[in-house]
Amino acid sequence: MSQHYDLLIRNALIIDGARRPRFAGDIGVRGGRIADIGQLQQARAECEIDAQGKIAAPGFIDAHTHDDRLLGSDPAMTPKVSQGVTSVITGNCGISLAPLVAASPPPPLDLIDDGGAFRFPDFASFLEELEGRPAATNVACLVGHTTLRVAAMSRLDRAATPEETAGMQAMAREALAAGAVGLSTGTYYPPAAHATTEEIIAVAQPLKAYGGRYVTHMRNEDDRIVESMEETFRIGRELGVPVIISHHKVQGPRNRGRSSETLALLRQAGERQSVCLDCYPYAASSTILRADRIALSSRILITWSKPHPEFAGMELAKAAERLGVSQEQAVPMLSPAGGIYFSMDETDVQRILKFDETMVGSDGLPHDVKPHPRLWGTFPRVFGHYCRDLKLFPLETAIYKMTGLTARNFGLKQRGLLQPGYWADITLFDAEEIGDAASFDAPTQKARGIDSVIVNGVPVWREGRSTGARPGRLLRAGAAAERAAGN
Ligand code: ZN
Ligand code: CU
Repeated sequence: MSQHYDLLIRNALIIDGARRPRFAGDIGVRGGRIADIGQLQQARAECEIDAQGKIAAPGFIDAHTHDDRLLGSDPAMTPKVSQGVTSVITGNCGISLAPLVAASPPPPLDLIDDGGAFRFPDFASFLEELEGRPAATNVACLVGHTTLRVAAMSRLDRAATPEETAGMQAMAREALAAGAVGLSTGTYYPPAAHATTEEIIAVAQPLKAYGGRYVTHMRNEDDRIVESMEETFRIGRELGVPVIISHHKVQGPRNRGRSSETLALLRQAGERQSVCLDCYPYAASSTILRADRIALSSRILITWSKPHPEFAGMELAKAAERLGVSQEQAVPMLSPAGGIYFSMDETDVQRILKFDETMVGSDGLPHDVKPHPRLWGTFPRVFGHYCRDLKLFPLETAIYKMTGLTARNFGLKQRGLLQPGYWADITLFDAEEIGDAASFDAPTQKARGIDSVIVNGVPVWREGRSTGARPGRLLRAGAAAERAAGN
């Protein structure tokens, strides 16, 4: 008797996500999980996909997103699924949609707000909504320290009082108990810039008991990057938890080439504690519009502006000229607003991307009017530009940086590898054709070369479009995951 599957992928070139060399084979999926991998010619299935000439990889995990609201507002998750992404980590840079009820939260929280988005009094109610109305992708959530500050503090231009710190710690504990996989900070941003190292250590205290990780957009990514890294490592050591440095980069003309120094520091720290990092494959960054970035950037593009929506997509220099003011004076006139900053050196980008412990994360800003192209192009760009054209590393390594490594670093169980028993998150693509089409001029073009994307055994993307299926699950970590699974 031959085997029977729900879904059978035939004749693929399989790359398993653990950096093992590719091999030809078939993948049989049953009950949302990978049942068998091998030569399954005799098998039958409800649904078959012929993957002749295609790579089958674990679905990509976007290590760094701001998709907290996108999961609800565009559950098809088109910018992500069209790139082959099957899971997203939300709540980065200190910014999470919960727990906070606020009509108009301060920047940078407005990066994910449309007015009324911050409406969850606790983390459990946010996770319940994600679970009750699934999206096309899976999601694992971080709780943001900046969100906690806005929720707990009467003023943000100072360190937290002991009472406020205790309040934030209680909220962090609630989030982790509900299923958050870690806590993120964004001390680079004004609402968290006055938080002391001690405040962060106190708020993040519950991480260890829940098996969570500490994820950070550091205080500084230019001249004072080394002291920021040292602060980060210290926080991880004192908490006794793994550290993830977000979108690692070195910015500004004075700091060109300093990634050799920062990566050496990371390697050194890795000998005494668990540290890793994510990065996006571009030499330009993007966040809210800030005057202090003018000196660090050779060029700035406006991604959105509340008072001047007509300037979205325009260079800041040009907008300033139109307004008849300097670039510095234009920033407050355009704000609240967002920008893209050409502030990195390509050599640094490549060195960081290539580093062993570096995961790929888009840091895409899904609600920007003219977003940074990383939102739609990150994963295919690594394959097309860095892997195939520049030969920075082999395909097996690129896939590992988007799957196996990421699942391990975020504690996502039975994800990130093509292996029997694992959840069937699978991306099929053409290695010759794959590439990013999104550019700074046309930032919302979908990628080339993605054939099929399967989440928990269900196709969500086929023949260049969304299937409409929404099989995504909430991925919990540690104790909360076991409780949810009923063990
Ligand atoms: Zn950030
Ligand atoms: Cu971010």
